[in-house]
Amino acid sequence: MSHNTIEENRKRHDLAGRESVWLFGYGSLIFKADFDYIETRPARIRGWQRRFWQGSHDHRGTPDAPGRVTTLVEAPDEPCTGLAYRVTPDVFDHLDVREKNGYLRFFTDMTLDDGSHAEGLVYIATEDNAAWLGPAPPHEIARHIHHARGPSGDNREYLVRLAQALRALNVHDEHVFAIERELPG
Ligand code: SIN
Repeated sequence: MSHNTIEENRKRHDLAGRESVWLFGYGSLIFKADFDYIETRPARIRGWQRRFWQGSHDHRGTPDAPGRVTTLVEAPDEPCTGLAYRVTPDVFDHLDVREKNGYLRFFTDMTLDDGSHAEGLVYIATEDNAAWLGPAPPHEIARHIHHARGPSGDNREYLVRLAQALRALNVHDEHVFAIERELPG
């Protein structure tokens, strides 16, 4: 699959006619909301875990020296906490461009912080996309992140801001925190 998913995502869901749509964010969408939203709330989805296994050619790296950013990988029964945003459908025109480097939209059930359920969209970069990097030990991912930078800034800023945002949500994500601990000073 090509790593530019804009056209594919536009064809995937017809959001026309909906007043609003929930979006589940677990990576940069937690700490960088560069779009308008109607409301935001902590939320979780089940069966997925956050992993720094996706290459970034366009935000935190370049095609020649990709950065490492998060995607979700399947993990039966595991909860993954992030932030849900209720947005108008036109916001996906912007999000599809922002998340174009390998991410596809999927509908998922999410549990909001008051215990209610909502169906919403989540961007996931699956293993078959051209920018996929896959697993590596925390110290290798940390070294990789330390050296990478792209048009959106230093890759380490992505990691540090995500870790801060997760702490603010009272989430202990050992994968993220282990990489943060290994970051060269
Ligand atoms: C997300 O944050 O939900 C998607 C991945 C990213 O943009 O970092």
